[in-house]
Amino acid sequence: MKDAIKPFWLVIFFLALFLLVLSNIQFSHLISGKKGIVVSEHRLASEAGVAVLKQGGNAIDAAVAVGYALAVVNPCCGNIGGGGFMTIHLANGKNIFINFREKAPLKARHNMYLDDQNKIKPGASTNGYLAVGVPGTVLGLDTALMQYGTMTRQQVMAPAIQLAKQGFTVTPYLAKQLRELIPFFATQPSIAAIFEHAKLGSQLIQTNLANTLELIANEGPKVFYQGDIAKVIVQESTKHGGILTLEDFSQYTVQQLSPILCQYRGYQIISAAPPSSGGTTLCELLNIAENFPLSDSGFHTAKSSAFLLEDMRYSFIDRNTKLGDPDFVHNPIEQLTSKEYAKEISNQILHRQTTSPVTLPREQEQRNTTHYSVIDSKGNAVSVTYTLNGYFGAKVIAGNTGFFLNNDMDDFTVKAGKPNKFDLIQDATNAIQPGKRPLSSMTPTIILKDNHVFMVVGSPGGPRIITSVFHTIINVIDYGMNIEEAVNAPRFHYQVNPPYVDVEPTAFSPLTTLQLKREGYFLEPHPPWSAVEAILIDPITNIRYGANDYRRPDGAAISEE
Ligand code: DON
Repeated sequence: MKDAIKPFWLVIFFLALFLLVLSNIQFSHLISGKKGIVVSEHRLASEAGVAVLKQGGNAIDAAVAVGYALAVVNPCCGNIGGGGFMTIHLANGKNIFINFREKAPLKARHNMYLDDQNKIKPGASTNGYLAVGVPGTVLGLDTALMQYGTMTRQQVMAPAIQLAKQGFTVTPYLAKQLRELIPFFATQPSIAAIFEHAKLGSQLIQTNLANTLELIANEGPKVFYQGDIAKVIVQESTKHGGILTLEDFSQYTVQQLSPILCQYRGYQIISAAPPSSGGTTLCELLNIAENFPLSDSGFHTAKSSAFLLEDMRYSFIDRNTKLGDPDFVHNPIEQLTSKEYAKEISNQILHRQTTSPVTLPREQEQRNTTHYSVIDSKGNAVSVTYTLNGYFGAKVIAGNTGFFLNNDMDDFTVKAGKPNKFDLIQDATNAIQPGKRPLSSMTPTIILKDNHVFMVVGSPGGPRIITSVFHTIINVIDYGMNIEEAVNAPRFHYQVNPPYVDVEPTAFSPLTTLQLKREGYFLEPHPPWSAVEAILIDPITNIRYGANDYRRPDGAAISEE
């Protein structure tokens, strides 16, 4: 009898030991300091940003360094072959929004992904050169650096070039991501040549990417948009059924726009303007939420969650039908971000009826966007989200350029009434037109309290970006969480189409689940999504806190001190 018990206790002992070890592995850290902070999805990229701060650079210098470093160490998401948005708050009070979203090629047509019978050609808007929008990252980062930075291009690109040349260790998370590329090795030799031998623990050296980055560092964006890099991409695109031309590259522009502004319970929100839907939809969500006593109703109770789900319903209907590239369509920003409009919607929510849910096939989130947040000791803050869109973008690397090209053309309304890869059913406002930028959900945001930076926040996650940022803000402002708790708290997301509420594990208690189901919501358990990389400054002590999201375990918040 005694002998039979022994193995049982041994198993229990090792199980307890395993759980103890597991509970001590931290994927997320709360760091603090009184100087600069960088939070990104990769420790080496955060270190690159902090190194630039320590050399005397400002937050913009650091943000450009992080942008290029992520393009090396986070190849799924960090990029120079995609595009994005940068929200800046300067210590002198000025707010800036840089739009470096990709543009549709000049030969693009509204029906370019449809066949003769008006049916979507499977994969045409997601894989291969036809899916590629004209990349904006290089000109976007350079515009920020030239106008608001203090260091040279060579200085801020040095860490990225070194990481590409000398290599870095492949982490378990990166190894897992890179396994997704295996099916493409046979048809894409330029991908295989770089990633075929990148196994867990090996050094990933990217010589071609290092050469490309060196060219950009020395010659500036013109080598990308008018020089050899554009030529190689156009050649390869033409060879493989794409429509990119040299004019697409030479005519590519970056815009500086006014960010979207709104107030939430006394905090100033500064966020992404169209062609991102992010800031407008975030403001609509917050304005509606302001009419509801969230903190009194409790975190993720049935009462507050049902209100937030209806808030998401109204806000996403507006997002999908009323927004698009402002160079091509009118965006009713004033209406969508007004307190009166939000009040009307809140009143309707309080007297609502819910619709009955239906089941549709789903695709899992693809992690090809990344967000990072930077603040320097002087109080300049930068919030950047940029993307390749789908998993490793269009899964093409042109010749010896060494970097993935995006498939952001899929963010357009490929066919009215049909969902894109994020299940978004969008309208004609977001139809494809030559030179137009596809509607995005990226939401790089800065929040002020009494004119001082309070939060720097953003996330990847397709349309879930907007609700992830929304949750993080209300977690702090309404539920009193610290920034680490706020970014890591479980989330839920609802975007009307499909009619599911995506629910992360433990987001709802069994009781809340039961009550929401009774109200008619179709709750669908979903693996964790998004990755909010955020900074919070305590307005009383002025201590700055940074936290990376556990959901992308290579991330790190690093303080300058
Ligand atoms: O711009 C957008 O909204 C999308 N291209 C973002 C895609 C994304 O976040 C995927 N990553 N998780």
